[in-house]
Formats: sequence, C-alpha cells, structure tokens
Amino acid sequence: MARALVGGLLRRGWAAGRIRVADPSADARDHLRDSFHGIHVLDDNLAAATGAETWVLAVKPQQMKAVATSLAPLAQEAGPLVISIAAGIRSGDLHAWLGSAASVIRCMPNRPAVIGAGITAIHGGPGLGAGLRRRAADVLSAAGECVWVEDESLLDAVTAVSGSGPAYVARKLAIETVFGAARLARESGERPEVLRDQVTSPGGTTAAALGVLEGAGIRDTFARAVHAATLRSRQLAGGTGK
Ligand SMILES: NC(=O)c1ccc[n+]([C@@H]2O[C@H](COP(=O)([O-])OP(=O)(O)OC[C@H]3O[C@@H](n4cnc5c(N)ncnc54)[C@H](OP(=O)(O)O)[C@@H]3O)[C@@H](O)[C@H]2O)c1
Repeated sequence: MARALVGGLLRRGWAAGRIRVADPSADARDHLRDSFHGIHVLDDNLAAATGAETWVLAVKPQQMKAVATSLAPLAQEAGPLVISIAAGIRSGDLHAWLGSAASVIRCMPNRPAVIGAGITAIHGGPGLGAGLRRRAADVLSAAGECVWVEDESLLDAVTAVSGSGPAYVARKLAIETVFGAARLARESGERPEVLRDQVTSPGGTTAAALGVLEGAGIRDTFARAVHAATLRSRQLAGGTGK
C-alpha cells in the first residue's frame, strides 16, 4: 500500500526527492529504488521521519504499536502530521503511542490505489485544522478519491466494504462488469435499485439470476461477510489480532 501511495504521488508530479521511505527488508528497499528513481530509501524509520512534517505509517496493524512508540520521542519534538493507513488501529491508540504533540489522521485506502483508482475514507479528530486536513488529503489523493468520515467507528464498516471488497472479484469479466457498473452508479447518480430494475425485464435472464441469488440468501450472506470483516477490524484494534 505504501508503494501505491509513492507511485501515486510521483504520478501526480511530486518531486521524488521530497519522498523518504523506510523498510527493514533489504529486498524491499532494492525493489523501491528500482521502481521509483530519486526517492530516498532508508532502513531506519527515525532517519526517514527526521525533518519530515508529514509521516505516513503503512505497516501491518500488528506492527503499529512498536513502530509508533519508537517514533514517539521525535514526534514529541517535531509535532508532525501522522497519517495511519492501518486497518482497525484507533486514533486514540495512535495518540497514546505517539504522544500529544503529533496530529493524527486515520484513513482506510483500498487496493485499487495501486492504479490511482482507490477510494480512501479519512478521519481526523475535531481539533484538526483545515491546513492539516488539506495536507492529508493532498497526500492521500495519490491513491484516488478521498472522503472524510467524521465518526471514527464508521471506518470499520469502510474497511469491510471498500478495503476487503476487491478480494471478492477477480477475473476480467467480473472486473469489467463491476467497474462499468460502479462508473454507471457514480456517473448516473441513480439509486442502485433503479439501475438494477433497468436491466431486469420481467421473466428475463436477469430476473432468473436474481431469483437464484435471493433464494440463496445473498443479502444475508453479504451482510454477514461485511459484519465478519467489521468484527475482525475491531479485534485488531483491541490488540487481540494475530
Ligand atoms: N493491502 C490493502 O489493500 C490495504 C488496504 C487498506 C489499508 N491497508 C493497511 O495498510 C497497511 C499495510 O498493508 P500492506 O498490505 O501494504 O502490507 P505489507 O505489504 O506487508 O506492507 C507493510 C510494509 O511494512 C514493512 N515493515 C514491517 N515492519 C516495519 C517496521 N518496523 N518499520 C518500517 N516498515 C516495516 C514491511 O516489510 P517486511 O515485508 O520486510 O515485513 C512491508 O514492506 C496495513 O496496516 C493495512 O491494514 C492495506
């Protein structure tokens, strides 16, 4: 996901020299250098963060506490804007780990970010000023569209739908169908049920397929899938995830 953001920033015209990335793995660092010429690639988070006014923490949720606490002394001194993309990790925890001087943004991008076609939900606390919000959106637009979510608990549902969603579809036909349907939904502004009715003739093929889906409990299945991902996101936040 960090690679997606770096790629997106470069595509949007950011100077490579402004971007510093740290990764503990030598292979990952070589790969970063080969993919993105001119960015600074380091093996030490502290070195990467020193002097930077915006930090993006893009490690796995299980690694976040260790990474954030190791950066806390610098955060206390520098007061950066810290953006976490980790699923399930609460702003309150990030604040506790980083210290009060850091401004914290929590967000949830999704996989299509790799082609700049993602959608990122962003949450910032009430004390976060317009300038910091603009700065966060400026960075995260590298992944695609951004939407602000005022209620942090909604991010668990966002994680379940837009973060885990791309795993449900894979093959070309499915991808193109979903892409086309999504564009139609966005560009037409119509409600989903109106769009569904437009392709459903009474007694026709779509009606037959919908009958099977409804009979198999598709709504309930999707609701349970979203619920399971929501619960998992909460478990990760509670530190019980592995
Ligand atoms: N993938 C998605 O679609 C998606 C969507 C939304 C949000 N997210 C969030 O994005 C975050 C990253 O997910 P990902 O899929 O990009 O995982 P990932 O591919 O494993 O990326 C995490 C990177 O962090 C590196 N790392 C590990 N420990 C580190 C440390 N102490 N300091 C600095 N870097 C360290 C890892 O290196 P090693 O490989 O050497 O361990 C790896 O390169 C997660 O918190 C996830 O919840 C992901």
